[in-house]
Parts: sequence; C-alpha cells; structure tokens
Amino acid sequence: MTAATIPGLDQAPTTHERLLSWVREVAELTTPDQVVWCDGSQEEWQRLTDQLVEAGTFTRLEKKPNSFWAVSDPSDVARVEGSTYICSEKPEDAGVTNNWMHPVDMKMIMRELYRGAMRGRTMYVVPFCMGPVDAEPPKLGVEITDSEYVVVSMHIMTRMGSKVLERFGADAEFVPALHSVGVPLEPGQQDVAWPCNDTKYITHFPEERMIWSFGSGYGGNALLGKKCYSLRIASVMARDEGWLAEHMLILKLTSPEDKVHYVAAAFPSSCGKTNLAMLQPTIPGWKVETLGDDIAWMRFGEDGRLYAVNPEAGFFGVAPGTDYHTNPTAMRTIEQGNTLFTNVALTDDNDVWWEGMGTPPAHLTDWKQRDWTPDSEEPAAHPNSRYCTPMSQCPILAPEWDDPKGVPISAILFGGRRKTTVPLVNEAFDWQHGVFMGATMSSETTAAATGQVGVVRRDPMAMLPFIGYNVGDYLQHWLHIGETADTSKLPRIYYVNWFRRDESGKKIVWPGFSENCRVLKWIINRIEGNATAEDTAIGRVPSADQIDLSGLDTPREDVETALNVDVEEWKAEIPLIEEWFAKISNSLPMPLGDELNALKHRLG
Ligand code: GDP
Ligand code: PGA
Ligand code: MN
Ligand code: MN
Repeated sequence: MTAATIPGLDQAPTTHERLLSWVREVAELTTPDQVVWCDGSQEEWQRLTDQLVEAGTFTRLEKKPNSFWAVSDPSDVARVEGSTYICSEKPEDAGVTNNWMHPVDMKMIMRELYRGAMRGRTMYVVPFCMGPVDAEPPKLGVEITDSEYVVVSMHIMTRMGSKVLERFGADAEFVPALHSVGVPLEPGQQDVAWPCNDTKYITHFPEERMIWSFGSGYGGNALLGKKCYSLRIASVMARDEGWLAEHMLILKLTSPEDKVHYVAAAFPSSCGKTNLAMLQPTIPGWKVETLGDDIAWMRFGEDGRLYAVNPEAGFFGVAPGTDYHTNPTAMRTIEQGNTLFTNVALTDDNDVWWEGMGTPPAHLTDWKQRDWTPDSEEPAAHPNSRYCTPMSQCPILAPEWDDPKGVPISAILFGGRRKTTVPLVNEAFDWQHGVFMGATMSSETTAAATGQVGVVRRDPMAMLPFIGYNVGDYLQHWLHIGETADTSKLPRIYYVNWFRRDESGKKIVWPGFSENCRVLKWIINRIEGNATAEDTAIGRVPSADQIDLSGLDTPREDVETALNVDVEEWKAEIPLIEEWFAKISNSLPMPLGDELNALKHRLG
C-alpha cells in the first residue's frame, strides 16, 4: 500500500507543513491500515475505550463510573532504564549516567524496527500541550502511536486534541514523539490484549528535540509527554533557556495565619511525591492544596522569584499503599471515576484492590489474571501498578494549577528512601550547599524501574533517569542559577527522609504520610524566621522540641532517631559520595568538590 492510499492520512485537520510531512513520512515507514487524527473529544474516548473492552485490554469496572482495569504483559511493567538512550551528536553531551548511541546509528536500528511495525493497526496522531494551552509560547508536541491504550491515557495525562491543534497554527514549534508497541499484525491475525515487543528502545534526540519509543506500552515508556518530553527533552531546553525542568511535585501550603507558600519536592520514583502533594494535614489550621505530583517546570519571574508550572493534566500514581488512611485525597480523586488502573487486582464484583487497602477479600483476580486468595504467595497487585486519573477531579486542587504564570516557590525539598544516616529533615546552609545535597542524594531503587529493588544508588535531584544531557553540566546549571539569581529570592533547600528505620532495621520510625505536615510546618516557620534549628556537620537540623509533635502518638525516641545526625554514619557515607563523584569526575563542577571537602572537614 502506498501512503497516498492509507485511509485517513489526507484528512488532516491542519495545514502545518512540518507536521503533515512528518506524519506522512511515519505512515510510509510504519504502513498502518489507517490514520486517525485525534480530537480529544468525549466521543473519541467512548469509541476507544469500547474498542479496548472489545479487545480484552480493558475490563469495565462496576463500582467506579467510566473506569477500566487493564493488565500488561508481565514483562512490560515499568520504565526500562537500560533501554533508554540520549542520542546526542557527541557522547560527552549525554554523559556517563546515560546510555548513548550516535543519532545516525540509532536511527538506522530504529527505522528497521519501525518499518511495517503498524501493519494491521491504526496510527493515531495525538497533538498535545504540556502545561497550560494559553502559555506563551505553548509547549507543544505530537505523539504518533499505534496503541489505543496510549491515546486514552494521553486524554487524561495531557491537554490534547483539537483545542491544542489550534495553537499549532501553520508553523508553531513542536516536539515530534513517535511510539509503536512494535507488534504488526498479519491479515486475520488475532491481537493480544497487551501487545509489546521484547526489543525496546526509549530514545531521545536532544539536538532535534525529538523522541522515538519502541516496544513498550508502559506509561513511563509510552506516554511520551511525561518523562521523555517534560523531563529529558525539557531539561535540555531548560539548560539552553535558563530555567529548570525537574522531577518535582508542587504543593500549596496555607498557614493558620493565612500565609501562602508553595513548595516543590524531588523524590525518586515511588518515594512519596504523589502522597506529599496530596497531603491532608493533621495539625489544626494548616491547609494543603495540590498543583502537581511528578514534574515541575520552573522559570524566573520578573520579580526574581522562581515560578513553577506542572506540565501534566493527570496523576499517574503508584497504587499499592494508597488508601483512605494514607492518601484520602487520591482515593477521593479516583472514586469519581474516569480512571484507568493498570496491573492492580480485580475484585469479584469488578472493583479494584491492591496491597495497603486493608484486609484483602477472600478471592481476587491478580495482575497476572490468576485466582488469588490471602494465602497466595505473591502480591495481588504489581508493586508498580498505577492509577491514571484526571487532575481536575482532585478535591484539593489549587485553583491556580492551570495558570501559565506558575506559582512562586518558597522551598525545594530533596529526598529519598534511606534506612539509615539521612535525618528526617535538614536545611541547607545556602544554595550551593543545597545543590550539593541534591547532587549527592541517594535512594533505594524501587519497582518503578525494571531491575533490582532496594539497592542504594545516587540519584541527583531524583533526576538520574531523566537528565537529557551530561549530569555534570546539569549540576553546573543548578549552581549557575545560584550565581546569577538574587539569592535572597531563591527557594530555600531541604533534604528529607521519611523512611529511616530503627536499629532492628524493621520499623520505619517516622509515621510519614499526613504527619509530614509537621516537617512542612517547621520548614515554613524557618522561612518566616519563626523556628530554630541546630547547626550540625551536614546542615541545620531541628531537635524533637523544634518540631510540632502535638497529638502525635509516635514515641518521642522514634522521632529522635528520625532526626539523629550520627557522625559515624556520615563518615561511612563519605566514600560512597566520593565513589559517585569519581564516576562523574570528568564533568563534576568544582564547587561541589569544595562542598565535599567542607563536609569532611566538619565531620572531623
Ligand atoms: P511517587 O512515585 O514519588 O509519587 O511516590 P508515591 O507518593 O506514589 O509513594 C510511593 C510509595 O511510597 C507508596 O507505596 C506509598 O504508600 C509510599 N509512601 C509515600 N509517602 C510515604 C511516607 O511518608 N512514609 C512511608 N513510610 N511511605 C510512604
Ligand atoms: P513516579 O512517576 O515518580 O510517580 O513514580 C513515574 C516514574 O517516575 O516512573
Ligand atoms: Mn516520576
Ligand atoms: Mn507519583
């Protein structure tokens, strides 16, 4: 079939030359049965979800309106960092923390994979916008995909369709993002419920601002507006244009005195961003509202402050551990419906269930579609199972969430999962020290990426898998901001750890979740000049007396353990930081080496 005869190809609702020629080129290469230009309408959602039910990919839920249960192929459950590439012209522009291949070589491999890859399928063209549609300029993209699951997920996670295509005009810039599950169908061949390919490539061409993804249907690999565009490609744009694209939640905090502060926080995947963003404070008079749970784009405003925008329109949240006790806001968001659940368990009355939801029912269908009972050996839901739900349904959504201007950030938190060493909260002495904290932060790996779980690794600013260029240049970019901005207007930087354990290593000593508002209160009081801290070798850390513990039933000695700065533990941390700095020594900015020396000196 020649491209000219592919139905739908010529029904483009746009005159945008570059878009038209790219769509034609991809159609000629991948040879789909038809091309569909997505408009983002309710009719489109209805048609595609019906089709997914028909195909066996979706099961309609009985207890939540317009909501669906999906299970993936058991091999396609998380981001694949080993198959994720930054294809810059020069290897040093990708740096040692990224996989690299020359763009010409990568394109040669991937063109062969894409050739005929959409045979027997529909090719969808999804115009989308990351961040508010009325931003100047809007951050546009187009995802071409052969997956209906991806299209309906993009309906939730991004602003997309006709209203976005209007902003393309005839020549607006956009990021082309190509996705195929990589499973062509022969005539008459029955499709599987979750098509994917053992060969996977998640590839970024930073100089061309382009994304090619092949072989996976999992969110982080396939919803290309999210990690691929809003972090990897956007971090390159941000470096060039003087802003920051970060793996951060954004929340609004209002004090009993009605003072408003906005906080951004970077934790690695599956380390608490969504939960903190939706926190329900346990201390009277404090209020939290949500603006974002995964990504923040931060630019300087005319007043010299850093303003954050969330580029997304939905939450792609970790299901296990989420319930009315830990995260009531998330539960109230998803119970309204319009939500996709992937790799959770299904109850016998067609509702969803996952670990952390209380007593399990006597029988479930697990994420591998097997019968499951409380005696089963494996969890019923995959540890990285997810809900995908519209932000607009969040009951505590801050009204300014869609404001292109963004919100001025008062504090930036870095944090990870550490059983030892890292105290509950630690304030940086200044911006450069805060960048050092972010640059050396560490966390145990989680199920959000394939590979071993629970291994401590350095994860600078929680961006290790998402920096679209050389990590040293990225850290330099952070330092540069401190050198050029009015430092009195920069956010204060904090390093937090909700996951410290007692001596047995079994119990997490800090109650976490909603109780994290006590830490936020201390941080805001610090910023307002109303709280004290102890100067320690690693930063400014509160004692248990300096944190509001009223009404908390956690034993005081546990709180003290959580806050403890153990010089011996930190001395043992130094070789690990040195090992990390040695790994990136080719590009490590000098001031971070100075900070390490200063820390060693303070530790004695
Ligand atoms: P995200 O991937 O960074 O958005 O992390 P989530 O907020 O989805 O949380 C990931 C996992 O960590 C879930 O299983 C949560 O239940 C758990 N978690 C989140 N916040 C806390 C906390 O403050 N303390 C503890 N112990 N666990 C938490
Ligand atoms: P998370 O988002 O940070 O909420 O886990 C998905 C991911 O990072 O893979
Ligand atoms: Mn994330
Ligand atoms: Mn999350």
